[in-house]
Amino acid sequence: MTTPLRLGIAGLGTVGIGVVKIIQAHADLLALRSGRPVEITAVSARDRGRNRDADISRYQWEPSAVDLARREDVDVFVELIGGDEGVAREAIEAALASGKDVVTANKALLAIHGQALAEAAEAAGRVIRFEAAVAGGIPVIKTLTESLAGNRIRRVMGVMNGTCNYILTRMQSAGLPYEAVFEEARALGYLEADPTLDVGGIDASHKLAILAAIAFGSRPAFDAVEIEGIERVSIDDINRAADMGYRIKLLGVAQMTGRGLEQRMSPCLVPADSPLGQLEGGTNMVVLEGDAVGQIVLRGAGAGEGPTASAVMSDIIEIARGVRLPTFGQPAAALARPTPARTAVPAAYYLRLTLIDKPGALAKVATVLGDSGISVDRMRQYGHAAGTAPVLIVTHKTTPDAIDHAIAALPGTGVIEGEPVELRIEEV
Ligand code: HSE
Repeated sequence: MTTPLRLGIAGLGTVGIGVVKIIQAHADLLALRSGRPVEITAVSARDRGRNRDADISRYQWEPSAVDLARREDVDVFVELIGGDEGVAREAIEAALASGKDVVTANKALLAIHGQALAEAAEAAGRVIRFEAAVAGGIPVIKTLTESLAGNRIRRVMGVMNGTCNYILTRMQSAGLPYEAVFEEARALGYLEADPTLDVGGIDASHKLAILAAIAFGSRPAFDAVEIEGIERVSIDDINRAADMGYRIKLLGVAQMTGRGLEQRMSPCLVPADSPLGQLEGGTNMVVLEGDAVGQIVLRGAGAGEGPTASAVMSDIIEIARGVRLPTFGQPAAALARPTPARTAVPAAYYLRLTLIDKPGALAKVATVLGDSGISVDRMRQYGHAAGTAPVLIVTHKTTPDAIDHAIAALPGTGVIEGEPVELRIEEV
């Protein structure tokens, strides 16, 4: 009789219950694939009496997640509580210190304290696995850590917050403003308890920081991600970008440059006919580029019970099989302290200006662009209203500094009404 792998599961929300259901439904399959039975010893959650969609009465109840993490009859501590501080962190540290492996879906914790946790895991001779922390059911952590281990990664890019992608695609399909779709998303229960985690780009940036650490062999550096959320994306820009052949996505991009590690999360334009441009609703997509493999695209559900529990199970089975990977793909001590670099890689930009419709106005705009070293690729002016005209410009590739220079100079022309809008067009 092979020894079972004994789990302690902390957190019985959507994902925790999803994991319980898979373990109950697929016990034989899991035992075959793992080479040993996978069993739940004990569980822990905030509210024992809550009505749950799975029978947990057969497991021991542990009121404290930290006590659960220390139990002698637990081999793997499965942390599905969330949060970058507090009980989740305390319990994971307790689990490692008492000789348990850890499986977690906690992106915030890994993005912020990943280095310390990786060091603690190595010191204890244990592993931390976290497939569910990035892009839900998409196996991106394993793809980067294992399947692409022979590549020097050039760029990691993705739409990794389903709620933002839902809001942006719904604005476009229904022609509704941001505020209206935000309320719809809230009513549908898509938003995190603190919605700024979603719409402020923070949740997606946690994920980007984790991917960048694995991809570039550096310590996770969430505080070095340049973050802009989707709150200021207007229906006008969604419509105008569509007219010019683009979609607006909250896109995360990480790449190692000669100046250091660029990590940015911001609304960007992508070609409407590209895989990223065609990504609808709450789906996630991660694009990985390696020197040997070229570009690969992974797409799937970034959240939800089944997809996220599927990712958690993949880690549990990996541990049951005896596969032991370093947290971020190489020893913690070998992870470089990244030099954060502001985005400088040139790109084309989309500019939307409300021009006062009088002779010479366009010439003044053209002069500012020329003086900033920016060349125009395409331009449209249409939809005149009350003496003003929206002007859309797609530039040739230029630097973010040049765009900043132009944006700062444009109001001084006296021919622009309101704030100019600038969005980067990412090459995908
Ligand atoms: N709130 C996230 C999303 C899911 O909308 O993608 C968890 O990271």
